[in-house]
Amino acid sequence: MRSRLLIFSKDIGIDLGTANSLIYLAGRGIVINEPSITAVNAKTNQLLAVGEEAKKMVGRTPAQINVIRPLINGVISDFEMAQEMLRHYLKRIGGGSNLFAGFRKAVIGVPSNLTEVERKSVEDVVIGAGAARAYVIEEPMAAALGARLPVNEPTANLIVDIGGGTTEVAIISMGGTVVSKSLKVAGDRLNEDLIRFIKDEFKLAVGEPTVEELKINIGSAVPLGEKTEMQVRGRDLATGLPREITVRDSQVRTAIAKSLRLITEAIKEVIETAPPELVGDTLKHGIHICGGSSLLKGIDTLFSRELGIATNIVDDPLTCVARGTGIAVENIEKYKQILENPINPREIKI
Ligand SMILES: Nc1ncnc2c1ncn2[C@@H]1O[C@H](COP(=O)(O)OP(=O)(O)OP(=O)(O)O)[C@@H](O)[C@H]1O
Ligand SMILES: [Mg+2]
Repeated sequence: MRSRLLIFSKDIGIDLGTANSLIYLAGRGIVINEPSITAVNAKTNQLLAVGEEAKKMVGRTPAQINVIRPLINGVISDFEMAQEMLRHYLKRIGGGSNLFAGFRKAVIGVPSNLTEVERKSVEDVVIGAGAARAYVIEEPMAAALGARLPVNEPTANLIVDIGGGTTEVAIISMGGTVVSKSLKVAGDRLNEDLIRFIKDEFKLAVGEPTVEELKINIGSAVPLGEKTEMQVRGRDLATGLPREITVRDSQVRTAIAKSLRLITEAIKEVIETAPPELVGDTLKHGIHICGGSSLLKGIDTLFSRELGIATNIVDDPLTCVARGTGIAVENIEKYKQILENPINPREIKI
């Protein structure tokens, strides 16, 4: 009975990302950290695999299996699958829909540009997956909490979350977002850039996992001093046969330069729109970057060089939003205002 009571009091924080889904269990920390991918039987729609297991199937499935990413550009595109995925994880960490194993409160991160209807449907997914009560928090705010920035103080912090599907830029002050911008350019776009570059330059078709490896291994936003290269295999577009090429770090930089420029421009726009006092604070505190794509080598150097503001990568950038949702659910009274007034009337969305 004792353990049942403990389970009964479970609160969770959720970061349902385009690339990765994380769940933070109050009092414990991050307990789920898996790719946002599901595999289903194409005929019956029955769930076959979730997360890491489903990711292994990407590009390798027979016709009767569909591999689905339930989120596109940070937004849930397949509600049924998103709910199935979440339900699967909640079950794994000991929840379910029966009274004694359910979850009480859930705080879930959402992109800052969602409409009220879209927010509501995210809440529905969380409730449908087994939580009793759902709160939404804007992802930049969650990221700021996760980075332990003083969000409730009258000083501004500029946070940039560069994930898989979206980049969110926000200036946060006194528990609210003052200016924010969300753009659909992030890690996935860099991968698309690389696929296109290799196709145009080498006449070779390569898959997503290949360019992901290329980006992580030799990708950088600025030259790093040492020249590197990597062997890449794909299908020759003319002969249809396998072929191997060598890609240099400078070529990866060329391929992704335009997308990185769009991200830099978005940060600049947010700064230009912010009230002057807050710009002063930003200059003092620097830019805080998080999200998986903040791990692209040299991206901090690129921002500080282009924008003239010191840029710092937060600790453990891939789990920052999830830790923020966890902190919010563990201190629900303290952050109630942030959670219950998700749309800030003073906020400028650009
Ligand atoms: N070392 C690395 N270098 C460059 N990119 C990386 C690295 N590690 C991870 N990434 C990229 O980070 C992205 C995933 O980051 P993250 O988990 O923060 O995204 P997400 O939260 O799922 O997406 P979103 O917030 O857009 O919905 C992927 O595009 C991945 O390629
Ligand atoms: Mg994210």
